[in-house]
Amino acid sequence: GKVAVLMGGRSAEREVSLMSGTGVLAALRSKGVDAHPFDPAERDLDELKREGFARCFIALHGRFGEDGTVQGALELLGIPYTGPGVMASSVAMDKLMTKRIWMAEGLSTPAWRQVHSVEETQAAFATLGSPMIVKPVREGSTIGLTKVTELAQCADAYELAARQDPLVMCEQFIAGDEVTCPVLGTGDEARALPVIRIVAPDGNYDYQNKYFTDDTQYLVPCGLPAGEEERIQALVLKAYLTLGCRGWARADVMIDATTRRPYLLEINTSPGMTGHSLVPMSARATGLSYEDLCLTLLASAAL
Ligand code: DAL
Ligand code: MG
Repeated sequence: GKVAVLMGGRSAEREVSLMSGTGVLAALRSKGVDAHPFDPAERDLDELKREGFARCFIALHGRFGEDGTVQGALELLGIPYTGPGVMASSVAMDKLMTKRIWMAEGLSTPAWRQVHSVEETQAAFATLGSPMIVKPVREGSTIGLTKVTELAQCADAYELAARQDPLVMCEQFIAGDEVTCPVLGTGDEARALPVIRIVAPDGNYDYQNKYFTDDTQYLVPCGLPAGEEERIQALVLKAYLTLGCRGWARADVMIDATTRRPYLLEINTSPGMTGHSLVPMSARATGLSYEDLCLTLLASAAL
């Protein structure tokens, strides 16, 4: 049947989603799938039903797409979709809820504070120490994020994050290796893919270095000391299953340079599928092409 690739949307990551969706659409079509783009920022989701779409590939990022809202609408319409369901999508979009659940399960994540003002941000800096990350609770792609190293930066950092989301958080910065690890599959079948180590120019893996420069290095095999990759894969798989994810997701992790302890930052339930994105790179290392990855994900579409 007809497949809709949901792309665009109205979050700050719209531009990224359009890049992801364009890639997915071309891949599915190259495999003979009757795939069509569908932008929920421009059309009513009801039209999916009226136009007879059998399944949806969700290539939306951020709020109103990755956060359980679209997933809920598709549940009501009875159209199977890729990726985690309503609850996992909605929890994972909220980095604070995610951290609370991981903490409760004994999974390590950097220390944090929710902040409601510049003053609280400054107080957090005094407790969490330098550097500290200030970011919106429900955003992606490092949009609205600042790495604060001086008290004087707290005001601008808070305002920048608050412009993206009324919920703002501060997080201890873990200095060390930045890695990411995808998971594919559901329940007992869920498997972690190879870990990718990210080496960004000046250690700054920001929006520009994520999508537009070719200066960021992605190492897969990751070249971490023996045993670390397996430990991270096990941690990420637990993080995925604990949140009730299905289909696929990608967790971002920092490894403390001194203790070598891994810390979970967040999990993305609709990971990027752009030409610079990470899940396709990791999948390729196992022999799974971008096109076959898209087919595998589509086959996992569920209600
Ligand atoms: N939030 C972006 C799309 C990612 O994690 O890949
Ligand atoms: Mg993210």
